[in-house]
Amino acid sequence: MELVRATEAAAIRASHYVGKGDKNAADGAAVDAMRAFLSTVSFDGIVVIGEGEKDEAPMLYNGERVGDGHGPRCDIAVDPIDGTSLTAAGRLDALSMIAVADRGSMFDPSAVFYMEKLVAGPEARGVIDIRQPIGENIRALASAKGMPVGDMRVAVLDRPRHAELIQAIRATGAGTELLLDGDVAGAINAAREDSRVDMCIGVGGTPEGVISACAVKALSGFIQGVLRPSSDLERARAESQGLDVDAVLESGDLVRSDNVYFVATGVTSGSLVRGVERVGGRIRTESIVLRSQSQTVRRVTGDHLADRWA
Ligand code: FBP
Repeated sequence: MELVRATEAAAIRASHYVGKGDKNAADGAAVDAMRAFLSTVSFDGIVVIGEGEKDEAPMLYNGERVGDGHGPRCDIAVDPIDGTSLTAAGRLDALSMIAVADRGSMFDPSAVFYMEKLVAGPEARGVIDIRQPIGENIRALASAKGMPVGDMRVAVLDRPRHAELIQAIRATGAGTELLLDGDVAGAINAAREDSRVDMCIGVGGTPEGVISACAVKALSGFIQGVLRPSSDLERARAESQGLDVDAVLESGDLVRSDNVYFVATGVTSGSLVRGVERVGGRIRTESIVLRSQSQTVRRVTGDHLADRWA
């Protein structure tokens, strides 16, 4: 629950920049606030997924130690804003998020920027596979869920690289939910029960893939990923790190630990949580907290004194 304070703080600070057209300012405010709050949390964390390499990211860089240095030894993945462009444009679905797992258990995503991902709920286990054509996966999942294919909805990032994929999804009779940005929210919606999205597929960030895996694990859902190097250089870098770029990474490869926490606070409102709102003299935040060991899904509303955030 302490981690929620850090995503709440990041979302509140970022909310000043919603719709102001400056994604770097929004991200900078979120990073500062998240880092300040993380330093008060009692744990010994290493940032495995952060804002980038130390020379390009002065704060929350990959490898940085966070927390007060006491308590559990953890890997931490931070995304102070997933959806910086959404925030800058004032669009829906921007989230601030953190995932935490036992030390040494998170896949290091630094070698290859993009990953193809396939995410769905628990019914998908043993039923769908990223190596199969999308049509087969949709039909198999629909049958496992006892749904007509025509009622299935698949979330995909709206990118030119997905044009054929989108066509193939629609050719089955299923519908798409095209995401402007933010495929972690898409993945969570695909894995959770109370959402209209049944599957999330496509190529997005590798860091977001690992964070999604943490959330999906805590929801007992299904996730697979395959690295998608965009250049020979990236492929060579991955191979020099001993990575098999053709391997299908299962949930247990993306995050080995079964002791995983995931928290996200809405910056702008979306399908998962509401965004930061002003309610009289208070600032209201809404967050979701997932814990793998108990599989509990918590929704946390915070009413923060606005004067303290002035
Ligand atoms: P940022 O907020 O860091 O820009 O990431 C948004 C995002 O949409 C991710 O959710 C997604 O994984 C990735 O960007 C997709 O990358 P691209 O925009 O290059 O297709």
